[in-house]
Amino acid sequence: METNRISPTLTAALNAQMTNEAHNAQIYLAYASWISDKGYEGIANFLFRHANEERNHMMKILEYILKRGAKVIITEIPSPGPDPVSINDCFEKIFKSEVENTTNIYTIVNKSLEEQDWATWNFMQWFVKEQTEEETLAMELLSKIKIAGGENAGNDALYALDKDLGKTPDDAELAQDVSVENP
Ligand code: FEO
Repeated sequence: METNRISPTLTAALNAQMTNEAHNAQIYLAYASWISDKGYEGIANFLFRHANEERNHMMKILEYILKRGAKVIITEIPSPGPDPVSINDCFEKIFKSEVENTTNIYTIVNKSLEEQDWATWNFMQWFVKEQTEEETLAMELLSKIKIAGGENAGNDALYALDKDLGKTPDDAELAQDVSVENP
């Protein structure tokens, strides 16, 4: 008896996104290792924690494919690419990678809408919200390094930034959580 309830097109897209999330985890692991080697343990800690989040995203998609009766395809994970050349470059690369990931998520949402696969559409809404958070967090990184001096950030500013990011929570506050009393 056929129990698969995802189309071949969406199954391929979800499997590809599962690998994208694993790739994102490798990027955070690579950047965390690179920066830890430079002595910035606070920033490294933030990035290592985020690598775990990406692995969780991967697992959510894997589990969804299984639960809908479709086939999970585990493939090789692409290399994270070259190390950043500076902390500024590192944060810019992270922002770019998160925005690309959002585009990939939206593509799957569009496909599920076209197919009227409401289960997949509904599942993907979690990722739509998550990407809003991830982009917000990446924008906060860009703001912090900009205040620290960008490419010209001095040791004192980077020391303070390192301390700050070691304590920064994993999740960013979303616009929809804000109120007049609590802007
Ligand atoms: Fe799973 Fe940072 O997106």
